Amino acid sequence: MDTIEKLRVELGERAYEILVGSPLIERAGHEILPLMRRRQAVIVSDETVARHYLAPLRDSLSAAGISHHAVVLPPGEATKDLDHFGKLVEEILTVGIERGTLLVALGGGVVGDLTGFAAATLLRGIDFVQIPTTLLAQVDSSVGGKTGINTRGGKNLIGAFYQPRLVLADTSVLCSLPRRELLAGYAEIVKYGLIRDADFFFWLEAKGSSVYELADNALRRAVLTSCAMKAAIVAGDEREEGERALLNFGHTFGHALEAETGFGSRLLHGEAVALGMVLAFDFAARLGIGSGQDAGRVRRHLAAAGLPTGLAEIGLAGIPADRLMGYMSKDKKVRDGRIALILPRRIGDAFIMHEAPLGLLRSFLSEAAAV
Ligand code: NAD
Ligand code: GLY
Repeated sequence: MDTIEKLRVELGERAYEILVGSPLIERAGHEILPLMRRRQAVIVSDETVARHYLAPLRDSLSAAGISHHAVVLPPGEATKDLDHFGKLVEEILTVGIERGTLLVALGGGVVGDLTGFAAATLLRGIDFVQIPTTLLAQVDSSVGGKTGINTRGGKNLIGAFYQPRLVLADTSVLCSLPRRELLAGYAEIVKYGLIRDADFFFWLEAKGSSVYELADNALRRAVLTSCAMKAAIVAGDEREEGERALLNFGHTFGHALEAETGFGSRLLHGEAVALGMVLAFDFAARLGIGSGQDAGRVRRHLAAAGLPTGLAEIGLAGIPADRLMGYMSKDKKVRDGRIALILPRRIGDAFIMHEAPLGLLRSFLSEAAAV
């Protein structure tokens, strides 16, 4: 059944719509045309995604009378570096673009972050549209305007806040996504319930498997609810000066695990976030802020989905706490050496602890690694 629903990210003159459902790739030309100052688009994609979805996107742009060129990059996180960024912008410039040319990011978070940063910088800023093709990109990275690339010193250290003009989340493309990538995106969906919407988490407890089994209605509801929450948070704090940091729930712990495992396929970002959220619940319970009961409930839900919930499961049993704390102290939220953590008071209610108690954190991590 064809069903498309709309949301708006309310950012004044930079406001934009998110369309969720299907078919959207086939309608992309029709949706994008009214936003265009010039009927010229450059599509950026990766080889895997292009194999599946570039042809229908091209057809759709042609049918709307939009001229188009495509740049196809190798898939994977390694593409989000300065080298590929340089090649990408050089190639786009050889096409002969003007300020009215629009970029279309067709892919997951890697393509979206890279294309968004290219749009932010080419000719000092041209428009771009996100067509996210992973679950993670549909519920998180395509919305909110964080764009950027990695450097040798760390992830996303060069970038810009630069909003897309439109997001087209075509849920039908998720059928070709490997299950592991799908579950990694599911972890980010669970995150929204845990930080701000207990009823959504309870709904996921009942219906989550329908989401990752790609049942139309459940999937669309999960993507819409996630995007609506992200849109509301971004509208209130676009540049992460306050509440937007809640979206990093599970990420400070998770980032340490990703750094240790090399930011690659050994541990996907969403898997690290799942385990990071469990650690945040356990640590909150240890501090007497949250309850062990909630922590157990969250662990059970993520484990039932097939996501990692313990350090031993990802081969990090026995890792020294100081090693993890070393990574955590390089987090972008660190101020004057103080580690900030997003912690839960209960399911659906998270807050920012600006200065985590380091001694307790160290002993907590040692125990978590010991089991
Ligand atoms: P990804 O873009 O690397 O995609 C994962 C894999 O799935 C790739 O191999 C890709 O080719 C393949 N793929 C994508 N769509 C497919 C489809 N429909 N069918 C088959 N294969 C498909 O990874 P991701 O998880 O989407 O994004 C991770 C990136 O997002 C990281 O770089 C992370 O830093 C970034 N991120 C950014 C934000 C933000 O707010 N900007 C938020 C979260 C994550
Ligand atoms: N993914 C976190 C954010 O967009 O702020």
